[in-house]
Amino acid sequence: MITDPIGNRRSEGFPTSDPLQALEKDHNFVKKLFERYFSTQDQQVKQEAGPEILQLLEMHSSLEEATFYPAVQQLDARLVEECMSEHEQADQLIHQLKGMDPSNPQCDAMFQQLRDAILQHIDAEEKQLFPVVRQSNMDLEALGIQMQAYESNMVATLARESQGAPSSRRGS
Ligand SMILES: [Fe+2]
Ligand SMILES: [Fe+2]
Repeated sequence: MITDPIGNRRSEGFPTSDPLQALEKDHNFVKKLFERYFSTQDQQVKQEAGPEILQLLEMHSSLEEATFYPAVQQLDARLVEECMSEHEQADQLIHQLKGMDPSNPQCDAMFQQLRDAILQHIDAEEKQLFPVVRQSNMDLEALGIQMQAYESNMVATLARESQGAPSSRRGS
């Protein structure tokens, strides 16, 4: 049986009443994956953890960019803009890593660069952006429902694609 830790990471369901919790859970999960990647010399473990890191980061960024950032942009436009440009920098590293042979010894250095960038980004979100959102009078439940819908759609599309079915995604 194929295990899908990323697809199964919402085993307790999406916390619609507190969507920031869903984002924090992803943050903790990606930190764990980086730990797994860097705490081993076992190439097989690295070659499993590496793609999981990249996929989780892509899904997480996509969720934030499509739903969360537009909704909270009004609360602190400068901070959200910084977060977006941090995503762009990470995206470039992710793109390069996806194109690399996983046995390439340079992967470790690039994953390290990615980890440093992501840890800093997570810190900015959790220590600067999330507190602003929590202190606002935003309807977090409405946002949570929107985020849950976006995510379940994205997971379904990825599942279809990984089964080799023709993609129904129209260019976006
Ligand atoms: Fe995040
Ligand atoms: Fe982010």
